[in-house]
Amino acid sequence: MPGCAATFSVDESLAACPKCGNLLDVLYDWDRLSVPPSLAALEGKWGRRADPRCFSGVWRFHDFLPFARPDQCVTIGEGQTLLHRADSVGRYVGMQPGGLFLQYEGMNPSGSFKDNGMAAAFTHGRMIGATQAACASTGNTSASLSLYCSVTGLMKAVIFVGSGKIAKGKLSQALDFGALTLEIAGDFDDAMARVQDVSRQLGMYLVNSVNPFRLEGQKTIMYRVLEALRWQVPDWIVVPGGNLGNSSSFGKAFFELAQLGLIDRMPRLAVINATGAKTLFELYEEQGVRWNGGHPDLSAVEAHNERMSAEGRRASTIASAIEINRPVNLTKCFRALEWTDGVVRHLGDQEILDAKAQVGTGGMGCEPASAASVAGARLLVAEGVISPEARVVCILTGHQLKDPGATVAYHSTDQKHFDEVLGSRGVRRAAFANRAVAVSNDVDEIIRAIRLYS
Ligand code: F0G
Repeated sequence: MPGCAATFSVDESLAACPKCGNLLDVLYDWDRLSVPPSLAALEGKWGRRADPRCFSGVWRFHDFLPFARPDQCVTIGEGQTLLHRADSVGRYVGMQPGGLFLQYEGMNPSGSFKDNGMAAAFTHGRMIGATQAACASTGNTSASLSLYCSVTGLMKAVIFVGSGKIAKGKLSQALDFGALTLEIAGDFDDAMARVQDVSRQLGMYLVNSVNPFRLEGQKTIMYRVLEALRWQVPDWIVVPGGNLGNSSSFGKAFFELAQLGLIDRMPRLAVINATGAKTLFELYEEQGVRWNGGHPDLSAVEAHNERMSAEGRRASTIASAIEINRPVNLTKCFRALEWTDGVVRHLGDQEILDAKAQVGTGGMGCEPASAASVAGARLLVAEGVISPEARVVCILTGHQLKDPGATVAYHSTDQKHFDEVLGSRGVRRAAFANRAVAVSNDVDEIIRAIRLYS
């Protein structure tokens, strides 16, 4: 925090400032580093794809996260992701053609944006000689950590998940990659608290986004968005908000580029909560808590947490990736919102799943939490906050196959199954369902069905 201003060496492993207890930030002495003269100057790396540090969508931007020497950087080929112009999803959102773009982070090796941050955290973990790495997770961080451990063999993964709280696709990854998987009797917020206690006691390297190096890697998602837009800054970045690592790192990415004179304006950031997990919305939009030049009203945050405890309030949404009521990066997110004149909104599971179905038919497909960005953009256009003429980038954070359960239930013809999985969460209808057609095992019947339904 600016008021504390303690500094620590890059060789230390700290999840919080030992002096003030707040989050740590990675700061660079840009004057002593070689910074490219323009963003376009980075394009020279495109022709050097045989060099893993240029192939990686994280490390080709090493100039902006130079905490490790290039030869120390760990990569498994993360960040080969694309920005797609998505006009049909744009129509749904209420945008003009050419205005809506989807940044598809599901193309990462473990199927989510987490690999961007994991490449950086792993690099730091290796620098300091860590042999065991831990995280709490709603499923994607744990999948990513487990993958980096299995591919590189550099560390052993210990993951903490809320029992029954992570989608099967994600759990199957951690199990398959060989991670020690602890199913805690509780939810993500419980697992997050426990992993911090336990990793302190056992000296395990923590890769959750309290680790500031994780966030350095996630800045590169924004560099790739700029790259795809030929270095033009979009008007809006819309991102789902869970533990608030992405939103924090996106703000830092743009702030630093502006500091370096490499961009001439900031985009606006919209962070989208699920209605069943809307701590950020309540604090920022309802109670008006702000970064306030580094002096946020932490007593308001404390009081909010106590209220949730007293009421026994637990996060609850089909978008299990963002089913989080106590986001660890809250203060950094306030800072990002200040830098970007940001807004926060929340959407129910109905809106999130409808948006997800639209992404499926007109985009690359995504898991429920990712679709919160599209649902959020739609709400902000309807409110008149985002102009239909704007250029908007929604971040699709995770792959469609991470949570097939939600998708199949949405499109199901089986009302009982629909009610069990979605009705219990207040989802009443599947406006964009694509129902499978049941036919008998007979060529004429099959042909009749195709003629009837195509
Ligand atoms: N989308 C997906 C697919 C996620 O997995 C997460 C977070 C988010 C959005 C929220 O991002 O935390 O940066 O605000 N997943 C974490 C996990 C919590 O454990 O995998 P955030």
